[in-house]
Amino acid sequence: MIVNTKEILLRNGKKIIFRSPDIGEAEKLLLAFRAFSETSPYILTTPESAQKMTVEDEIKFIKSHNESSSAFVMIAEYGTEIVGISSFAAYKDSKRKHRGALGITLHPDFRGQGLGTMKMKSIIENAKKITGLLSIELSVMSPNSTAHNIYKKLGFQQVGHHPKAFLLSDGHFADDILMQLWIGPNN
Ligand SMILES: CC(C)(COP(=O)(O)OP(=O)(O)OC[C@H]1O[C@@H](n2cnc3c(N)ncnc32)[C@H](O)[C@@H]1OP(=O)(O)O)[C@@H](O)C(=O)NCCC(=O)NCCS
Repeated sequence: MIVNTKEILLRNGKKIIFRSPDIGEAEKLLLAFRAFSETSPYILTTPESAQKMTVEDEIKFIKSHNESSSAFVMIAEYGTEIVGISSFAAYKDSKRKHRGALGITLHPDFRGQGLGTMKMKSIIENAKKITGLLSIELSVMSPNSTAHNIYKKLGFQQVGHHPKAFLLSDGHFADDILMQLWIGPNN
């Protein structure tokens, strides 16, 4: 699905646009994602695996999300620069299609200024428009306290904990903390 374009202001007054990318921006998106992955030890994609992604992969990624009624990609743009990438997709199988998961990563210079929180709020807002969606989910690596803090602040509850689920490139293990924001009725 295509998200509604939205303009927000960071604490420092910088104007940021949230919008869906189009396939003509695939290469730009890929280069931004590769760059962000260099400073994102707590996302699944490593800088090495990001290097292996191709523009064709990115075109498929954008196209499949833009054309889906239960998934979307949302970039954050400062001027002509992509400073944030997030995506959301509901499961496709019938027993889990009420659930969907998200991922988010920002340009390192745009972290710690409230952008992640505002982007998460916008992801939630857009996910709520998906027919039949009841649960917004994510997985966070245990050392990622910044991300964990935002998710708790926005009402996500911990629903699972998988010890030593990830082996990080520095040789340490990280636990996988599974979190859920239930947006359906409570019973
Ligand atoms: C995680 C990420 C999206 C957060 O976005 P952000 O713009 O940096 O976060 P915000 O500025 O909105 O909020 C950070 C919050 O965490 C708090 N925080 C910062 N460092 C912290 C720490 N070490 N421990 C606990 N809380 C911390 C801040 O005080 C702030 O809370 P507040 O708004 O109540 O003051 C961003 O840092 C990022 O892209 N990281 C790399 C990729 C990544 O890890 N993605 C998440 C995978 S689950």
